[in-house]
Amino acid sequence: MIKNNLYLRALKGETVERPPVWMMRQAGRYLPEFQEIKKKYDFFTRCQTPELAAEITVQPIRRYGMDAAILFSDILVIPQAMNIEVEMKNGVGPWLPNPIRSLQDVEKAIVPDIDETLGYVMDAIKLTKEMLNDEIPLIGFAGSPWTILCYCIQGQGSKNFDKAKEFCFTQPLAAHALLQKITDTTIAYLKKKVAAGVNAVQVFDSWGGMLSPVDYQEFSWQYINQIIEALKDDAPVIAFGKGCWFALEEMAQSNASALGVDWTITPEWARKLTGGNITLQGNFDPTRLFSSPAEIKKQVTAMIDAFGKDKYIVNLGHGILPNIGLENAGAFIEAVKEYGN
Ligand code: CP3
Repeated sequence: MIKNNLYLRALKGETVERPPVWMMRQAGRYLPEFQEIKKKYDFFTRCQTPELAAEITVQPIRRYGMDAAILFSDILVIPQAMNIEVEMKNGVGPWLPNPIRSLQDVEKAIVPDIDETLGYVMDAIKLTKEMLNDEIPLIGFAGSPWTILCYCIQGQGSKNFDKAKEFCFTQPLAAHALLQKITDTTIAYLKKKVAAGVNAVQVFDSWGGMLSPVDYQEFSWQYINQIIEALKDDAPVIAFGKGCWFALEEMAQSNASALGVDWTITPEWARKLTGGNITLQGNFDPTRLFSSPAEIKKQVTAMIDAFGKDKYIVNLGHGILPNIGLENAGAFIEAVKEYGN
């Protein structure tokens, strides 16, 4: 039994004293203790060494006491396991030296054996669960197939992922073959993560908002929905789509336990589009953490009032930025813990 189960109760839609809180990318670069580890080990060494991944996962919990931990890893371990080379370049971010550009390239990508290729993630989960000692739940995650495809085709981050979209629109058969391979790999991966001990899984569709509503259905949502259907009896699934407010009505019809929303929609409108029954997660503008701690607290309280305290998980609308002050991040968490006092 997990002692602080606010997060799991909110996912079930139960009535809670106050909503749970965590921050996307909470295990990361705004923390000096993370920077210390980053100086000594490169990115994928940190991901692949269970002791390092577990330590980085619990760092934000020690400092701020969030209501859930998210395993330190990356969405790009999936293409790596599929035999697609991925590097993390300082100052550039993700870098794929041989991006996929043809059906032949897609055919070279494999649906891997998870234990063989990603066993280190399962070891990190087991170690993290020991360190958390059942105090709070642990979240596992994966990128959406569309978001993973974006990096596989584009080869790096992008403002518009034009090459990824060109590939989908000019070679749709190859695109769908790749999306299905990523989906199959992701389902097997998330099932193993749940078996290793994560209490919920979140699918990050960071670039779903790049697609038109019609293309979103074809190239992103149908694959996310396959993941939800495959996982729903194993663990709660949270679907986060950045810029995907246009799809909320449809997403609310799925078997996801919660939907993540970004800051470009009001809480009231998100509730209206989703019918008021499904748990929502979000949606504080990450750059709003540059405001003063007092202002942050005021705005977080107003955000909870607007979403309502039940069927709600307090979070940012996207990942925390590296240059946010420690006190400002702390004010975000404190405001939630003080809610209703
Ligand atoms: O949320 C957490 O605290 C858990 C860890 C986590 C990381 N990446 C660690 C990380 C999670 C959940 C992710 C997911 C991820 N990775 C996404 C989806 C979420 C989102 O933010 O949209 C995406 C698109 C990626 C791909 C990726 N990995 C990017 C764009 C970057 C940043 C590159 C840069 O330098 O700006 C990464 C690297 C990365 N992943 C870092 C961290 C802490 C920073 C680099 C480092 O530590 O060396």
